[in-house]
Amino acid sequence: MSDMMIGTIQPRHERIWRAEQAGNWNLADYELGNLRGAFGRLGRAHPMEEGTPFPDMIESVIQKPLGDLKDAIDRRDDADFGKAYDELSDACNSCHQALNHGTIVIGRPAGPSQTDLIFDKAGR
Ligand code: HEC
Repeated sequence: MSDMMIGTIQPRHERIWRAEQAGNWNLADYELGNLRGAFGRLGRAHPMEEGTPFPDMIESVIQKPLGDLKDAIDRRDDADFGKAYDELSDACNSCHQALNHGTIVIGRPAGPSQTDLIFDKAGR
């Protein structure tokens, strides 16, 4: 689970933010689709967690923020994007707290990016 968080969930959460900050809405949209897919694979890899069906738990927590984020990205709305992004980070944290990993706290990325993706180059 932690490997999937680090390998598939966390980098996409960060990239959505960096892409939007750079005005690259197409990349933000792409990464959002990939984040949705990664949560789907996470649920399939872990059908049960602490006696609860994990895919249902994931869905109940992330469905609304991912939808709001998609809306904001489609409308190219920076203010709503910021709100929906924080809503998504809250969703990450609410699950961490619920599953006794409240020490893992997610928020807006700070500092320079460590990746080799060029966020302000909007390709096709
Ligand atoms: C439905 C529950 C759930 C959601 C939603 C969730 N996580 Fe997690 N996350 C976990 C659990 C459980 C762990 C601890 C896994 C372990 O240690 O086995 C974890 C661990 C992590 C870790 C620590 C991994 C490590 O080894 O250091 C990171 C980083 C992380 N999550 C990021 C995120 C981000 C970013 C989001 C939101 C975009 C998110 N998580 C949403 C359940 C969730």
